[in-house]
Amino acid sequence: MKNFELFLADEQVTEAFGFGLAKKISVPLVIYLNGNLGAGKTTLVRGLLKGLGHKGSTKSPTYTLVEPYLLNGISVYHFDLYRLADPEELEYIGIREYQTERAILIFEWPEQGRGWIPDADLMIHLEYHETGRSLKLQCLNDKLANDWQFDDILCQNEMK
Ligand SMILES: Nc1ncnc2c1ncn2[C@@H]1O[C@H](COP(=O)(O)OP(=O)(O)O)[C@@H](O)[C@H]1O
Ligand SMILES: [Mg+2]
Repeated sequence: MKNFELFLADEQVTEAFGFGLAKKISVPLVIYLNGNLGAGKTTLVRGLLKGLGHKGSTKSPTYTLVEPYLLNGISVYHFDLYRLADPEELEYIGIREYQTERAILIFEWPEQGRGWIPDADLMIHLEYHETGRSLKLQCLNDKLANDWQFDDILCQNEMK
């Protein structure tokens, strides 16, 4: 499946979507999260990290640029490029070193790093919709699009 849309009624549903997505994905993977401030990007990442086995809290890397996790042998790098003044900073932090065969890279505000960050396999757009959020997922990696079904993420995966 290449594209789908979904309504996320509240914060718990956004988190549950991230949790369910974690059960679908495999390494290596690059995810872009688009959407305005407060659209739910970090909430989705919190669910994703839980789904990958993370037990602690999820820090928003707004000031640190990147927050690293090692979860069951998988390196997860959660980037937030909102405050990135110059994309060249990504070169200084060694952006290329992060992309390995065992890594998942997640970018909030990917447009801020355009030209310097790896291309996305999955692009997720979050928008305010009524009192909740709407989510659009695009799969840009043809192999993944053929292998995966995304539309059942919320029904199949109960958060524990
Ligand atoms: N589906 C949703 N419906 C309503 N509120 C939500 C939803 N998902 C997340 N939120 C709320 O939106 C706020 C912003 O979330 P956050 O994930 O920090 O946004 P971002 O990282 O995009 O700036 C949080 O208070 C969160 O509880
Ligand atoms: Mg955020």
